[in-house]
Amino acid sequence: MKNSYTELLNRVDKNKLPRHVAIIMDGNGRWASFHGLLRSAGHTAGVKTLKKILTTAVNLKLEALTVYAFSTENWKRPHAEVDFLMHLFSEYIEREKMEMHANNVRIKFIGRLNEFSPGIQAQMKDAVELMKNNSGVMFNIAANYGGQDEIIRATQSLAKKVAEGKISANEIDKKIFENELDTEGQPPVDLLIRTSGDLRISNFLLWQSAYAELWFTKTAWPEFTPEEFIDALVDFGNRDRKFGGLNS
Ligand code: FPP
Repeated sequence: MKNSYTELLNRVDKNKLPRHVAIIMDGNGRWASFHGLLRSAGHTAGVKTLKKILTTAVNLKLEALTVYAFSTENWKRPHAEVDFLMHLFSEYIEREKMEMHANNVRIKFIGRLNEFSPGIQAQMKDAVELMKNNSGVMFNIAANYGGQDEIIRATQSLAKKVAEGKISANEIDKKIFENELDTEGQPPVDLLIRTSGDLRISNFLLWQSAYAELWFTKTAWPEFTPEEFIDALVDFGNRDRKFGGLNS
């Protein structure tokens, strides 16, 4: 690691790191238009940013990183853009999986995965299988994901279990409910970052972000840097978290 990068990582107090960071990688399209490029060029640039941020998460030994790659609403975009994003996912998984594996990353895809093409589903499955015994950062890629949709899927699954007599309705508590979510077994989101200026959660990890600290930046995702990621982490370390109580 280069000296300046090590210095950058050392800016963070390791005892005050969030366990789970979630990122809404917004602004690829606006960044591209601003630079007179096609939206697709913005997404390609966004993938490069993602690589740097994942590397930083690995180096800091974060427990979980979840990124919003494609929402349940994104199918409404022009056909060509959806096609391009699908191509990008597929290429990204193939190109990056060995390096992720070497970095001890565990990958997971969260969302309604069965609506992807069989080819992409197979690639996702292979990547998950490859990294399933790793013990480093849990890297969740939210793809065809919506927070409300995830909560409905969890509710349906529990309703079925009740109907089949496997559990009683009264038994359902927070823990049982969380076991039905796509992020089963993972810590709740501590820090939620959104790039590119909008101050919204946009249906991302609604349950998991109940007590998340929010961090917004005007920087478009393609220009988001490890430096700014570290700024967010340092800021998180200085927050007073109350979880509904009087102090942390
Ligand atoms: C939001 O920008 C971004 C997306 C909908 C897709 C995010 C995808 C990537 C960062 C690259 C692909 C990811 C993987 C995992 C390979 P936007 O298009 O909504 O930007 P805008 O709001 O400026 O139009």
